[in-house]
Amino acid sequence: MINFMSKWGKEEKETLEAIENIQFSGNVLNVASGDGRFIISLLREAEKVLAIDNNDLDLEILKNNCPRGLQNKLYIKNVDITKPFPFDNETFEGVFCTGTLHLFHKEIIIQILEEMKRVLKPNGKLLFDFATDIYRTDKNGVKVSFKEEGNYTIEEAMILLEEQFKDWKLKKEVAHFIEENADSSTGYQTIKGKFIIISATKGDV
Ligand SMILES: C[S@@+](CC[C@H](N)C(=O)[O-])C[C@H]1O[C@@H](n2cnc3c(N)ncnc32)[C@H](O)[C@@H]1O
Repeated sequence: MINFMSKWGKEEKETLEAIENIQFSGNVLNVASGDGRFIISLLREAEKVLAIDNNDLDLEILKNNCPRGLQNKLYIKNVDITKPFPFDNETFEGVFCTGTLHLFHKEIIIQILEEMKRVLKPNGKLLFDFATDIYRTDKNGVKVSFKEEGNYTIEEAMILLEEQFKDWKLKKEVAHFIEENADSSTGYQTIKGKFIIISATKGDV
């Protein structure tokens, strides 16, 4: 397996397995794609992947790092995911989002989840994660906190997700992550925590 080098760290094996298990097909939306963790696995499964993010530089890096044989399936677009997504209802056969929802306050997370559900076709596949209990340090071992983020515990995140997916049959898995030598552009050196991986099919109850 090719390991995609990302400033956000390695591709967790639990997420790679979840991508394999959910069996994406058709047109897949990668929400807040960053510089492309998991993009190769997504491109192998899907017909097309549209990677959206509000960081143009990362989108360019993603495109440039994508292996030639897969580039013709990859599309990029600058989108602010805190606003309504610029896509019609039921546009995508798959929606994917990792490493991002925990960055926002509850109201924004709910809005992003609503948008992900809205643009997904009936029977479409949804796969996303939610990082919790995050602990970051700088190169001197001093704790780093990001002002804007919600800082959720696993219990809080589970309650939020249950509320937002009352009518959905969710598959949930809890895993741990750790990065000890993060890229300096991330604003920290080490990060660890838990993450919930959620898989679902729209319409399964
Ligand atoms: C921690 S990174 C995760 C990137 C990637 N999904 C991954 O798993 O490696 C969070 C991403 O969210 C993007 N992001 C943050 N706020 C955003 C916004 N309002 N609209 C679109 N993307 C945003 C950042 O640019 C960054 O690429």
